[in-house]
Amino acid sequence: MQIHRYERWWLTFGLGMLVFFLALIGVAAFADNINPPSDMQQIDPTKVSRTPPFDKPGLRQRADGSYEAYYVAQVFTFVPTQLTIPLGAKVTFYVTSADVVHGFFIPDTDINMMAVPGWVNEETHTFTRPGQYLLICHEYCGIGHQNMFGKIEVR
Ligand code: CUA
Repeated sequence: MQIHRYERWWLTFGLGMLVFFLALIGVAAFADNINPPSDMQQIDPTKVSRTPPFDKPGLRQRADGSYEAYYVAQVFTFVPTQLTIPLGAKVTFYVTSADVVHGFFIPDTDINMMAVPGWVNEETHTFTRPGQYLLICHEYCGIGHQNMFGKIEVR
């Protein structure tokens, strides 16, 4: 079989690029130790319901007056499903997953992250507007994904 010279050049070039970019991904993943965004700590995803403070998810006040909210995402619900937050509260959300990757998105706030099994992600928002907020899973997580949401009331 005969391969035209230019064709051979392009094949070599294409394969070279493939190897080059795969190597870059490998370096980024292993040598640079790339991790999920905003990760703060790791957690055993099979023991979330027994690991404090995720064994009792929900809102609690800190000594400085701010709040922290612990959430567990699991197919196909958030725990807690419903949360009431005082108006003006600065809340840091700590989120993990007990099974697969979920999303954790509260429209009209700064909160937009992933819930990744094995990791605890965190983001902070100050609630200055009263009303009902939705908490939405915006990562496809399975057959019940579209029903996975929670409610937050700020008053
Ligand atoms: Cu959980 Cu989509």
